[in-house]
Amino acid sequence: LSAEAQSMLEAHEWLSKLYHHLLKHTKEGKEGSTYLDNRGIQQETIDAFQLGFAPDKDNFTASFLEKKGFHLQTMVKAGLLTNHQEQKFKDSFRGRVIFPIRNHQGKTVAFGGRIVSDGEPKYLNSPETDLFHKGNMFYNFDLARNHIRKTGEAILFEGYMDVITAYQAGIQNGIASLGTSLTEKQARLLRRYVDQVVICYDADPAGLEATKKAANILQNAGCYVKIAKLKQGMDPDDYIKEYGSESFRNHVIGASVTYMSFQLDYLKKDYNLQVESERMQYIEKALDEIATIQKPFERDHYLKELGERFDISKEAMQQEIAYRRRKFEKYKDNQQPERHTNIRKNVNT
Ligand code: CTP
Ligand code: MN
Ligand code: MN
Ligand code: MN
Ligand code: MN
Repeated sequence: LSAEAQSMLEAHEWLSKLYHHLLKHTKEGKEGSTYLDNRGIQQETIDAFQLGFAPDKDNFTASFLEKKGFHLQTMVKAGLLTNHQEQKFKDSFRGRVIFPIRNHQGKTVAFGGRIVSDGEPKYLNSPETDLFHKGNMFYNFDLARNHIRKTGEAILFEGYMDVITAYQAGIQNGIASLGTSLTEKQARLLRRYVDQVVICYDADPAGLEATKKAANILQNAGCYVKIAKLKQGMDPDDYIKEYGSESFRNHVIGASVTYMSFQLDYLKKDYNLQVESERMQYIEKALDEIATIQKPFERDHYLKELGERFDISKEAMQQEIAYRRRKFEKYKDNQQPERHTNIRKNVNT
């Protein structure tokens, strides 16, 4: 570690303790504790995740760091302070609930900060530094690692609050990919620990798009992917608040479906299935998807479902599939992109 990175690490260590203390025990932190209280976050959870609050003052953190002897320009690099146009050093995270982001060894290397009012941006995150490469790590991986190993399964969420409220609901193998979309590196890392990943992103257009991308990346890394479906427009935290922990465990995580099943369902959004011509278009698309499945029994399973749903004979469906697969064969040598299935490939671990 460079001297500069070492000093950033120490600053995060000091500040996470300070912010946590302020949140729990002082009136400067009251805004933060009230906010978390309103969101149903319990003390034990606040401790487990070392949540804190950065006071809403211009240079509270700056003067703290200065007193501790830190080089303030380095703290700007770490994203803890700003000094626009060589002005005075100011606190970056002021007035925000602090989510310490720990690396896989449990060291705090960055912060996420959520505003407690309606301001913008909602979340402020530390920039990339020598310490913090968000594409290489997961939020909460250090605490979740053993549970992930034990269960052979990781639950992938979008946000800090989802990981935290799921933890409160009894899900201890939850991690988040830190705002950015999942990277191949993260997928390979995860594959070393698990066979199976359940994606539980927000049920909004952005979350659904991100789900598809993450699912493909995870499958290519050799993970078996399942999707947890939430009610339209909700995220895990919303769901738990509305329907409770048990329902979340049983009806969301416990009821997650295969990626193929999710895709066949997701395709429906483009068609009005009451209209005959659109129904036919949907069936065409669904058959295209099913034809990509490598394992005959899996293909059969989804064909059967589709056939029953739309009352189409098995023979007709099988002809359609055979036709599509012949087309694949024909183009295979012609750089037909590889299609993914739900069956994980053999990966050396
Ligand atoms: N995010 C971010 N900056 C934003 C919005 C989101 O970095 N302006 C990242 C954060 O890591 C956040 C994640 O994307 O945790 C998911 O975003 P979103 O669904 O908007 O956040 P929630 O976790 O639902 O936040 P909250 O419940 O606090 O509103
Ligand atoms: Mn504590
Ligand atoms: Mn979201
Ligand atoms: Mn969300
Ligand atoms: Mn939310």
